Amino acid sequence: MKAMLYNQPGGTDVLEYVEVPDPEPGAADVIVDVGATSLNRLDVVQRNGWFQMPGFTYPHIAGMDVAGTVSAVGADVTGVSVGDRVVVDPSLAGVSDGSKLAGMGDLFGELGIIGGTVAGGYAEKCLVPASHVYRVPDSMPIEHAATFPTCFLTAAHALFDVGALTAGESVMIHAAGSGVSTAGIQLAKRAGATVFATAGSDEKCERALSLGADHVFNNRSGDVAGWAREVTQGAGVNMVFDHVGTALFGPSLFALAVHGRLVNCGNSSGDEAVIPSLGYVFHSGITIKGSDPYRPEEFGPVWDSFCDGYAAGEIDVVIDSEFALSDAGQAQDKMLSSDFFGKIILKP
Ligand SMILES: NC(=O)c1ccc[n+]([C@@H]2O[C@H](COP(=O)([O-])OP(=O)(O)OC[C@H]3O[C@@H](n4cnc5c(N)ncnc54)[C@H](OP(=O)(O)O)[C@@H]3O)[C@@H](O)[C@H]2O)c1
Repeated sequence: MKAMLYNQPGGTDVLEYVEVPDPEPGAADVIVDVGATSLNRLDVVQRNGWFQMPGFTYPHIAGMDVAGTVSAVGADVTGVSVGDRVVVDPSLAGVSDGSKLAGMGDLFGELGIIGGTVAGGYAEKCLVPASHVYRVPDSMPIEHAATFPTCFLTAAHALFDVGALTAGESVMIHAAGSGVSTAGIQLAKRAGATVFATAGSDEKCERALSLGADHVFNNRSGDVAGWAREVTQGAGVNMVFDHVGTALFGPSLFALAVHGRLVNCGNSSGDEAVIPSLGYVFHSGITIKGSDPYRPEEFGPVWDSFCDGYAAGEIDVVIDSEFALSDAGQAQDKMLSSDFFGKIILKP
């Protein structure tokens, strides 16, 4: 099969579009012929060597968000057949012994991820534990399914399991055009929250409104916390869901209401965060929470809810652009430029 892999850290010139052996399924595995995969920031930061997950090895085939058609099944597989259209849960937690990927993922140790630590969707075929595939409805294009796994699971886990967001509360979500936030805005809105979205351009703010955000603000143009206080008549928001990190950490804290919580799942702008006022944190009873990895049992219910919302026209699949797999370097450059809104798709 053809795959896009790399053997060393560096710019897009380290990506090699080459012929590699087809994967063979273990007894409890399936092979998915990749119809589409979508980019995530991890693809870029691992390639350029800024960060690599524990357990990462070369050569690496990226691509955590895989959707396609099952083309082979292992001897012990039941309930999944050749020809099934599926989306993949990339987390390798909870993989059974008959899979070649068993023992490679541990929620709070080495967090194995298809496309993160083992070969992913930047290829024509992908090895996946049969327990980690979910049927895609006939009416859903495979590119749409490929926008789902990482963004929606990350956002749903952070908002509801970690952040305990409830109907009637307010939540601020930064980088509204990012994959994780386009999912987060829609999930929060659907759950009955008031959404304060911020982004790095007025155009992205406009697009966030069309996704359902109630209030938007260009986070490069002024005082994010002041804006939140003004809109809420001084109260602040109940929760901030952030993955930008350093650049917006202080404003996020000061935007919070009494007993507000800041839930973080990323560090796109930097890993260091300074608490500008401990006094503010303790007087206001602020909670700062890290969003840990989602558990295997969360994937199915979030996928089912996504499919329902999609069928009802309540969830928009936000695709910025599509590239051929052989042009993965261009796609990754686009992601690094921040000149995109939503998901960037690769197709073998
Ligand atoms: N913990 C988890 O399980 C998990 C899972 C998935 C992703 N993540 C993390 O979540 C983050 C988002 O991932 P993604 O794939 O959705 O990323 P993405 O689509 O590439 O979006 C990243 C966005 O961050 C914003 N940003 C970057 N630097 C900024 C700065 N200095 N100030 C303000 N905004 C800045 C930019 O938005 P603007 O153009 O609006 O400025 C950029 O488009 C990443 O850090 C990723 O590693 C974590």
